[in-house]
Amino acid sequence: MKKHPLTVGVMAGLLSLAATLPLQAANETSNFSTPRQQMLQQEDIASQIEHLLAQMSIHEKIGQLALRDWGTFGASDMKSIKQAVREGRVSGFLNVNFSAVDKNAFEELQRIAVEESPLGIPLLFGQDVIHGYETIFPIPLGQAASWNPELIRNGARIAAQEASADGIRWTFAPMIDISRDPRWGRIAETLGEDPLLTSILGVAMVEGFQTSNLADPTSLAACGKHFAGYGAAEGGRDYNSAYIPERLLRDIYLPPFKAGIDAGMQSIMSTYSTLNDVPGTGSPFLFKQILRDEWGFDGFVVSDWNAVMEMVPHGFARDARHAANLAANAGIDMEMHTDTYEKFLPQLMDEGKFSEAQLDTAVANILRVKLRLDLWNHPYPRAQSEAEREQIIRSAQFLDAAKEAAKETFVLLKNDKKVLPLKKGQTVAVIGPLAEAPHEQLGTWIYNGDKKHSRTLLPALRAMVGDEGEILYAAGLDYSRDMSTRGFKAAVKAARKADVILYVGGEESILSGEGHSRGDIRLPGAQAELVAALAETGKPLAMVLMAGRPLQLDDTLEQADAVMMAWHPGTMAGPALADVLYGETSPSGRLPLTWPVGAGQIPIYYNHLATGRPATDDNYTRIEKIEREVFQHQPGNSSNLLDYGHKPLFPFGYGLTYSEFEYSDLQVSSTTLDANGQLSISATITNSGRTTATETAQLYVRDLVGSVSRPVRELKGFERVTLAPGESRRVQFHLTAEDLAFHNAQMEQVIEPGEFRLWVAPDAQSGLESGFTLR
Ligand code: NOJ
Repeated sequence: MKKHPLTVGVMAGLLSLAATLPLQAANETSNFSTPRQQMLQQEDIASQIEHLLAQMSIHEKIGQLALRDWGTFGASDMKSIKQAVREGRVSGFLNVNFSAVDKNAFEELQRIAVEESPLGIPLLFGQDVIHGYETIFPIPLGQAASWNPELIRNGARIAAQEASADGIRWTFAPMIDISRDPRWGRIAETLGEDPLLTSILGVAMVEGFQTSNLADPTSLAACGKHFAGYGAAEGGRDYNSAYIPERLLRDIYLPPFKAGIDAGMQSIMSTYSTLNDVPGTGSPFLFKQILRDEWGFDGFVVSDWNAVMEMVPHGFARDARHAANLAANAGIDMEMHTDTYEKFLPQLMDEGKFSEAQLDTAVANILRVKLRLDLWNHPYPRAQSEAEREQIIRSAQFLDAAKEAAKETFVLLKNDKKVLPLKKGQTVAVIGPLAEAPHEQLGTWIYNGDKKHSRTLLPALRAMVGDEGEILYAAGLDYSRDMSTRGFKAAVKAARKADVILYVGGEESILSGEGHSRGDIRLPGAQAELVAALAETGKPLAMVLMAGRPLQLDDTLEQADAVMMAWHPGTMAGPALADVLYGETSPSGRLPLTWPVGAGQIPIYYNHLATGRPATDDNYTRIEKIEREVFQHQPGNSSNLLDYGHKPLFPFGYGLTYSEFEYSDLQVSSTTLDANGQLSISATITNSGRTTATETAQLYVRDLVGSVSRPVRELKGFERVTLAPGESRRVQFHLTAEDLAFHNAQMEQVIEPGEFRLWVAPDAQSGLESGFTLR
């Protein structure tokens, strides 16, 4: 039984981590230092920073602020890059593995940095290791659907072991932006819409990357991004303005960053977007006031790629010089890709616009992380030969972990007539553009992933059934946006021959991710038509969706008997899907966000405020039922959309399994909660079906009256239980007054006495209900 009440995951120290690491990971990180040693190291680090700063010229100091993009260089640039490194003008590189330049050249650069630069400060190599390095795990939104921090921690640990084999010691993850907008392409990279879930899972990712000992050569420094509010990009258009009242910012958007920092996250990346009219990259409010003064962050801040210069088109900086001044004074320590610091900080310092003390602080923030990573002792790739590399990268153990992880991310949304699991002996017609799509199954941000290693669905299904049954295949459409109906005939023919149709569709991976937002989130191409044609055969129809966001399903939802959301499951998509489709494992994923009926309902999220006129199932008339020329108020005046209704298609936290669960006997230890007290809340969960399965019980509360209007529900904990048929278990949550704190209109974090409702529930819309009074 795994428990995730509010404070456990968020506040979890790093020291207990070794116990949860996979075998190989545990071996490789067994030399964790004790707290006392860590303290000594800290003192040591402070004096080393002082020692280094005392010897550095202004130019070398500014050099430590420069992160250069390897991917933008060509072979002809090598001479000048080497010279820059030799002179101590570069702190690190990103995107080291996919450029025109021989990738081994970066070892040579590190050698120059260590042996020939004035102080021998090693370079830091960073990469977007977002959901795996070469062993690709499900996209982060899919991983979030597991509601399983252990799974996320292990995935990050494996990614770190692979990436560090190539010399990468810094990843631009986790992305812990909260988003309430599935049109936004980058929602695929998030951990969903909820601050508590994102905090717990984000911390798990940080722990997996960093371990409790950053000096371990398999550790990567994590980078929480994008600070702050990027996920609220207006209209879902990437890079767009975000308007977030400070209260909401502090209650919803910032907690995952605070949780990450409390867990030791070493770096933070600025957002491209403006937050309340100020570009994130130029905001002293974010980086000085909140991050440093309020939270005491002691890692370093990096700008997003080109984000310093983008303050010019934002109309915030006049030119590159002004942009450098704004970013440096806002508290951006390291500049990614552009070189405005190198060009303009010396002048700005001469003019008294940026002081040497400020420069020293920025350099110290960066050196602190480099020292904690112990780059001086481990500057080079962990794998010193191709043979060593092969032992680590895509090892059987890692691939197996990726498969097991993927299995926990699938969310069963519908399963009428128990079409799933498929039964051996059936003839299955596999149809759809994503059934055999080795590249698409990997999802967005797979810089080091390669489709040639993908294990796809068809061979996995065939291996699963052996000679018990037949797997037919006709794609019907070549790719997800394909509009041609040329392949429909063969697809329908295969469907007619089969006992059951397995449609695999959704979105290609390029349709989500950075810059890839959609206004229309329906199934692209002619997929809806293809599904309709298949449904007409009258054969049972199960559908697997792969996508980086929830999709508007319209009639397709009715036409399919079963629907399973698989996100983009990664390298091991095929075997993972085959296992779950054939019931070797029952699906256990839960939605980490609210699934809208259609794009017109966005933003839609479970922890919204109540309106003065909340809609109910019977206080308004749906559009198709409104009579012509009726009196103005006759269809009702409540907060709804006449066409979409007032509910989402599927609520936050929702997901079915092949079994059924019953909730009973909710007990709350007291009807009152005192400021220093604790409530115990428990309920019995019973597996009343016929299959072993995992249920995720969720604790929600509602603060009925506050000094500001309060959300209709807020997640306060969750617990996963795996039960055999007929088995029951009590789930237990603990709630303290502190868990009920929020920011009032004066931006103070307060705990306000009053009446609360609570639910122990399978999703955000249902559950057993009780209440208590906070005194
Ligand atoms: C831009 C993206 O916004 C950011 O998330 C990423 O880490 C950097 N580029 C580096 O690739």
